[in-house]
Amino acid sequence: STEKHIFIAARQAMTLQQLQRDNEQRYREIFAAAGLRRSHLIFPVFVSDRPGMIESMPGMTVTPIEKITQHVQTIVDSGILSLIVFGIPKSRDRIGSSAFDRKGVVQRAVRAIKSSFGSSVNVVTDICVCQYNLSGHCGIVASGNKRVDNDATLQILAQVAASHAEAGADVVAPSSMMDGQVRAIKSALVGFFTKTMILSYSAKHASSLYTPFRSAAFAKMKPRLDKSSYQVSYANPRQVLLEIETDISEGADIVMIKPALAYLDLVRMVKDRFCGHPVAVQNVSGEYAMIKAAAMHNLIDEEEWKVCSIASIKRAGADRIISYFALDVSKYL
Ligand code: PBG
Ligand code: ZN
Repeated sequence: STEKHIFIAARQAMTLQQLQRDNEQRYREIFAAAGLRRSHLIFPVFVSDRPGMIESMPGMTVTPIEKITQHVQTIVDSGILSLIVFGIPKSRDRIGSSAFDRKGVVQRAVRAIKSSFGSSVNVVTDICVCQYNLSGHCGIVASGNKRVDNDATLQILAQVAASHAEAGADVVAPSSMMDGQVRAIKSALVGFFTKTMILSYSAKHASSLYTPFRSAAFAKMKPRLDKSSYQVSYANPRQVLLEIETDISEGADIVMIKPALAYLDLVRMVKDRFCGHPVAVQNVSGEYAMIKAAAMHNLIDEEEWKVCSIASIKRAGADRIISYFALDVSKYL
């Protein structure tokens, strides 16, 4: 009878709801056991002069400058108070000059966020030139040969950092992996922006896991650039310790290891070797895309894997976690 069917449907709905509640309770317990709090999470924000979705990263968006405050409001509403701004500028040139333009896309976004949210939101900015220059490399490529000119790039990175600090960034995060990037930025900030912190992408491994990010940020350019001459090799964990040691001695307030999941042993090692110096981890675009793609094919339980990966990053010892999943998991915190 229909009555019986309604009864069965209602009971199934009940158990589904109950199941969801049980899972939610379990996820809360997992995060509590790992010691994760909302203040450990940093959510990535892509700002651009053009809006859009990011095809390679389902669920992530590019926010046009006019909508940035609205977007940040939804992040704040979830209880996440830290974000990292990645800029996607309108045009590129040889040295990536729009990266240090006072009216550049990141500088305008940071001003807008700071004027609406003030000190209640912690703004981190990505310091690099690869989204802004013609080569797509994280440094200036000297004309003629194809090598990245490390030292010429340092001056540019310093200018980028100063322009972000001037716009109101609380933390600048150099991600170019140039030698001396922390020292160069530190000396540009000293005396002017004494409160601006430096989060250095110290041990950024050369990895195909940045491809979804690059296809978002690089639009028509080839997303598979070989950056192995300046990014670390996963075959060389000793290099990681050296990079971290150098960045700490140059004055990095926080050091970073990235990607996350295959490198958690290094997070623990760095935590132990450097007397608990603050360590951040970036759970990168490819790690996001893998979970999303597998879940879309019903191969894994998306929610379960998000929670598991974020909890393990925390358990390994990360003090800060940059993750595209930060918003999703904030409901369990
Ligand atoms: C720019 C930058 C990249 C990422 C962060 N900053 C790309 C790259 O180095 O090629 C990767 C972020 C991600 O994959 O989530 N230097
Ligand atoms: Zn770069």
